[in-house]
Amino acid sequence: MRALLILLAGLLIGALVAFSAANSLHQRNAWPRGVMNTLQHHLGELRRLQRSNDCAAARSAVHFRRLAETAADIAPSHPDQPPDFAEQARRFVETSGRHAAEAPVDCRALDQALQQTGEACQACHRDYR
Ligand code: HEC
Repeated sequence: MRALLILLAGLLIGALVAFSAANSLHQRNAWPRGVMNTLQHHLGELRRLQRSNDCAAARSAVHFRRLAETAADIAPSHPDQPPDFAEQARRFVETSGRHAAEAPVDCRALDQALQQTGEACQACHRDYR
């Protein structure tokens, strides 16, 4: 009976330790993942505008601005990456900022801007994800 109790206590402690390790790992990744999922959201909104032929500059500029602002957190939320990573992130901020300042005037221009944006996401993912 005593041995069984000790075994159960051991199992319980082991489970608690594993849970708390998993939890702190999850917490640590919350910011970088949040940044990426926010980027994903605004890219999705831009694609939705384009698909529904709703390509007014004023509408897309909002999301390009949010992409640029959110992307400013890419490098700080990945502090252990090499300098080239921060450079790719910086270029992404710059390109999105330019699209926000001079937002595409029609669907053709929006298509081009979206292509550039999607390729920039993929280029970094190819190298670092
Ligand atoms: C400068 C590099 C860089 C750029 C630019 C970049 N990403 Fe990422 N992305 C990463 C890295 C590294 C990961 C994997 C680690 C992580 O989630 O932090 C990732 C992961 C993701 C994930 C998975 C997140 C999760 O919950 O696991 C999504 C979604 C994503 N990126 C979307 C995007 C989109 C959309 C863009 C462009 C608008 C983009 N990323 C631009 C580096 C980048």
